[in-house]
Amino acid sequence: MPASSLDQIVSLCKRRGFVFPGSEIYGGLANTWDYGPLGAELKNKVKREWWDTFVRSRSDVVGLDSAIFMNPKVWEASGHITSFTDPLVDCKSCKERFRGDKLLEEKLGIDAAAVLKLDQVKAMLDAEEVNCPNCGKRDWTEAKQFNLMFKTKQGVVANEGDDIFLRPETAQGIFVNFLNVLQTQRPRLPFGIAQIGKAFRNEITPGNFTFRTREFEQMEIEYFVDPAEVDSAFDNWQKAVWQWYTGLGIDEEHLRIREHSAEELSHYSSKTVDIEYNFPWGWAELFGLASRGDFDLSQHEKFSGQELKYTDPNDPEKKFLPHVVEPSFGCDRAVLTFLLEAYTEEELENGDVRTVMKFDKRLAPVDVTILPLSKKEPLIEKAKEIHTSLLKETRLNIDFDVTGSIGKRYRRQDEIGTPLCVTVDFGTIGEDAKQGDADTVTIRDRDTLKQERIPVGKLREKIAEHWKQ
Ligand code: GAP
Repeated sequence: MPASSLDQIVSLCKRRGFVFPGSEIYGGLANTWDYGPLGAELKNKVKREWWDTFVRSRSDVVGLDSAIFMNPKVWEASGHITSFTDPLVDCKSCKERFRGDKLLEEKLGIDAAAVLKLDQVKAMLDAEEVNCPNCGKRDWTEAKQFNLMFKTKQGVVANEGDDIFLRPETAQGIFVNFLNVLQTQRPRLPFGIAQIGKAFRNEITPGNFTFRTREFEQMEIEYFVDPAEVDSAFDNWQKAVWQWYTGLGIDEEHLRIREHSAEELSHYSSKTVDIEYNFPWGWAELFGLASRGDFDLSQHEKFSGQELKYTDPNDPEKKFLPHVVEPSFGCDRAVLTFLLEAYTEEELENGDVRTVMKFDKRLAPVDVTILPLSKKEPLIEKAKEIHTSLLKETRLNIDFDVTGSIGKRYRRQDEIGTPLCVTVDFGTIGEDAKQGDADTVTIRDRDTLKQERIPVGKLREKIAEHWKQ
């Protein structure tokens, strides 16, 4: 059972060091979040799984890592200067600002952005008697288009015309490097270019923990295909992405596919399908797959003056702009989904309830924790020796926890989702040993709660076996 309320996850994340409110000692900064030691591990593992699956284990995808600051012309070419906007209205009474289309959507259940022109928004709010959610009055300004890109100045002496933007998607860093990749890697269609990186949007309504923030991370692939191959590439990516989420533990019942209506499509897309997750507040977008056609490459040809065509290797006369299928993942949304999905409350045989994060073992922030039963010498020395040798011999994240009763420590490890715990006790060092316990440890499985006594010398093999299953 995944978490039924967001509060359960927010509180566990803070308590156990997954995610902290941003700038907390200064009273915070609204809707910013910092990943703590365990959250950073989890997020890095999500990114590693993504990169291994979609870049390293595929011969048709290469990676790159492009700059966040780009020539401002990029955003003219991409359409973000003109189209990446929301219709905003202000309440004249309390001065709060809202997305007019969202207010109408909540009241009427219609996609107002798609059916209304900007100058109709205020009239519609008045006609439908939509009051300010903050103060309850109805005194709206006319709607204004608000660009979602963050603008800043470049250089020591900022002048007019030095405006640059924080990128609102990682995709454009891929399109502007299309020619570089063609010339250096000489790939043949179909091929993809992938990158993971930060994106920034001045969202009007951030919220729901890390679901919608103004600074977030994306994992995107631009997959270039012959125009005749778009449909099959689209279907293949839809399947591959579904498999990635479900293969890492998201229950299929909590996912659904939703295709965008024509009115809802972004300015660059001719078809978009979202994979939605059933979040505690309802179904919402987890991932988007878009058919971008040759929109971006042709715009960049026009604005940069550079030819970006692909030459058919079998027919040098045949030059064309490939079409693009774009699987776009939100990294923070994926992490939030894995957290929600892992959250489990289980009743034990003795009637106690344990909270356990049932992460897929590839994602668990800590892989194995060594638990010495006592801080006394020579037991603690033996536990440290086991810890050091496992750190050297494996590439796993092996932790060491010595604080509190063993029961409390098991509960703590369950709450952070550690798949295996290894207890070093007096038997291990040959004291108080039952027949045959010397030089053995107890290994405990997070999910089955099964405990097994095994020789220290077999520990590495046993752990490796667990990761192979
Ligand atoms: N390049 C295409 C693109 O950016 P998008 O649907 O706007 O498409 C892709 O964004 C994904 O990025 C979304 O499915 C979501 O997971 C994530 N995302 C978008 N805006 C976000 C935000 N404000 N906070 C967190 N994640 C966001």
